[in-house]
Amino acid sequence: MPRFSTDSVHGHGYYDEENGVFKVPIYQIAVYEHPDRRTGKPRASDRGLELKYSREENLTVRALERLVARLERGVDSLAFSSGMAAISAAYLSRVKSGDKILIPKECYGTTQQLAQDLSKFGVECVIARSDADEFLERLDGDISLALVETITNPMIRVVDVREIAKRCAELGIPLIADNTFATPILYNPLEDDAWIALHSLTKYLSGHNDVIGGIIVAGAKNDVDELWDWRRKLGTIISPFDAFLTIRGISTLKPRFETQSRNALEIAEFLQDHPKIRQVHYPGLSDSPYKSTADKLFKERLYGGVLSFEVKGGRGEALKLMSEVKIIRPSPSLGATETLITYPIWSAVKNMPRELLRELGITEGLLRLSLGLEDVEDLKEDLDQALSKI
Ligand SMILES: Cc1ncc(COP(=O)(O)O)c(C=O)c1O
Repeated sequence: MPRFSTDSVHGHGYYDEENGVFKVPIYQIAVYEHPDRRTGKPRASDRGLELKYSREENLTVRALERLVARLERGVDSLAFSSGMAAISAAYLSRVKSGDKILIPKECYGTTQQLAQDLSKFGVECVIARSDADEFLERLDGDISLALVETITNPMIRVVDVREIAKRCAELGIPLIADNTFATPILYNPLEDDAWIALHSLTKYLSGHNDVIGGIIVAGAKNDVDELWDWRRKLGTIISPFDAFLTIRGISTLKPRFETQSRNALEIAEFLQDHPKIRQVHYPGLSDSPYKSTADKLFKERLYGGVLSFEVKGGRGEALKLMSEVKIIRPSPSLGATETLITYPIWSAVKNMPRELLRELGITEGLLRLSLGLEDVEDLKEDLDQALSKI
C-alpha cells in the first residue's frame, strides 16, 4: 500500500486513459444523460450508485471521497458543503426522540449548540470533559451517540480517543471522531473502531482559506449508504469546484502540516520564554501535560499547527496584542497558509457559560494562534513587536 504522501497525490484514483489526463477535472454539471432512453436507467458511479443528478453523486466529488477514504483508512467517504453539514447528517442519521448524545464540554461551539438544539425533537445533550475520566464515566447504556475531537479547541488538549473508542465499541455506542485538528497524518480514528471520522475540510485538508467543506469517512459500507441518503435528502453535497480545490490542497497536506507543526513548536517555545506571557498550551512542549497522550496516539512526532497562550493582564492586553500584529491576521479559522490569531471568547466558545470557561481554564487573556507557512522568524518578530506594545 502506498505511503501517506504518495496517497495524498495519487489516492483520488482518477485517470482518463483515452486522453492521458491524470489531474481531476471539475465536473461542473447538474445532471447526467440517461444512456438508455427507453428504460431511463442511469449509469452507475464507481460505488454503484446512480449517476443522474449532482446533488447525489458528482464525479469530482467522488475523486475527493476516494482520496480522503484512503488517507483515513475507511471503506468510503461522503463530502459535504461544510463541516457542520457533515455533523448535521451524522446526528440526524443516528438519533431519535428519547435518545441522549454525549458531547465534550470543550468542543467547537456550533457542534455543541446543534446537539443542544436537538432537545426540540426530544433528544437530550449530555456534556462531559473528553480529556478526563469524566467522559468515560458518562458513557453507559443510556447514551445513543458520542462525539469527541482529537485535539480540543481552544486549550489544545489531546484526547485519548483510543480509550474512548474502545469503551464505545464495548457498549455498542457509535462514536463520531472529529479529527479536524489532528488530520489523518497524526491519527486514524477508524483504526480504533470509531463509527466515523469527520473533518471540517475548511481547515488543514483544503488548507488555503478558500474552501468551506466537510467530510465523513466510515468503516462500513452500510453506514456510508445510510449517510449518503441523508446527504441526498438534506441537499448538502460539496460543490465540484470546492471538491477540486480540496483535492489540490490535499496533495500538499503533509509538507504543509510538517512546516506548520515546526513553526508552532518554535513559536510555543518563544512565547514560553517571553516575560509578558503567563502560559502556553501546546502538546509538543516537553512540559505539556498532554505530550504523553500525543506520543501514544499520534503516528508522527508532530503536534499540529495550533497553540494557545495567555498574556499577563487580561482582556485589554490580549486585544491590544491582536490589534498590533501586522503579518498575523485576526481571523477565526485555522489550518491554512496564513497565520491567524483568534480571541476564543469571541469565537469558538462565544456562548459558553462563565463557570464552564473557568472550569476549562479559558481566561480573558487567552489567544489562539494557527500557524501558517510564513518564515517563522518573521512571525516571531511580529509577535515580539506586538508584545512590546502591551
Ligand atoms: C473541530 C471543528 N469541527 C467542525 C467545524 C465546523 O466546520 P465548518 O466551519 O467547515 O462548518 C469546525 C469549525 O471551526 C471545527 O473547528
